[in-house]
Amino acid sequence: MKKITIAIDGFSSTGKSTLAKQLAKELGYVYVDTGAMYRAITYFAMQKQLIKTDFFDKKSLTEVLPKIQLEFKFNADLGFAEMYLNDENVEKQIRTIEVSNFVSKVAEVSEVRSKLVEQQKEMGKNKAIVMDGRDIGTVVFPDAELKIFMTASAETRAQRRFDELQQKGDDVSYEDVLKNVVERDYIDTHREDSPLVIADDAIEIDNSYLNKEEQFAAVLDLVNDVV
Ligand code: C5P
Repeated sequence: MKKITIAIDGFSSTGKSTLAKQLAKELGYVYVDTGAMYRAITYFAMQKQLIKTDFFDKKSLTEVLPKIQLEFKFNADLGFAEMYLNDENVEKQIRTIEVSNFVSKVAEVSEVRSKLVEQQKEMGKNKAIVMDGRDIGTVVFPDAELKIFMTASAETRAQRRFDELQQKGDDVSYEDVLKNVVERDYIDTHREDSPLVIADDAIEIDNSYLNKEEQFAAVLDLVNDVV
């Protein structure tokens, strides 16, 4: 079977990463969650007080970017790779609502994007990869053999996110999560550099009314058509 590149893009909380992880496991491919990379840079900026409510020192972040080292390390117990920021495991820290609230602002910065896109292209140079994000099919791997674009209503996505955060014990309201989802959609689709758009050759999947099994089966059929 030939090795391919699978690009999964779409709005926040559409279940991209769950699907991508499942696919990678099934195919024996590498899975890369590019959102984790943008989140790690955001966490770094928050730690260094470069981003706070109504304040963002883009210039200092840009200057310090070459010193930020991001790496995925596979955790065999969990069955997926975790994000390391300058050798520190930040998998938990990057999933908070605070990071979610700032990440789209950081992802607007072209210098941040070009650093991460370069690293992502490098990770995919041998194919056999499933990568999810917002610009994978359009910018990172425009030649990917299979491109999926996932979507679902903002309310469905916010409810999923809210359930996830509650399960982790995070004290957030559904309204705050919905607000964050809507705001991120807006910034991600309106930014100048690499906005979230559906690639011409992507296949759109609206999973508002599909369960995980149905969705996985549908995408596996698409993979089998290509390999
Ligand atoms: O996928 P996730 O929700 O973790 O992504 C967090 C944020 O990172 C997105 O809302 C978006 O602003 C940014 N992002 C991006 N390009 C990517 C992946 C994520 O701009 N390829």
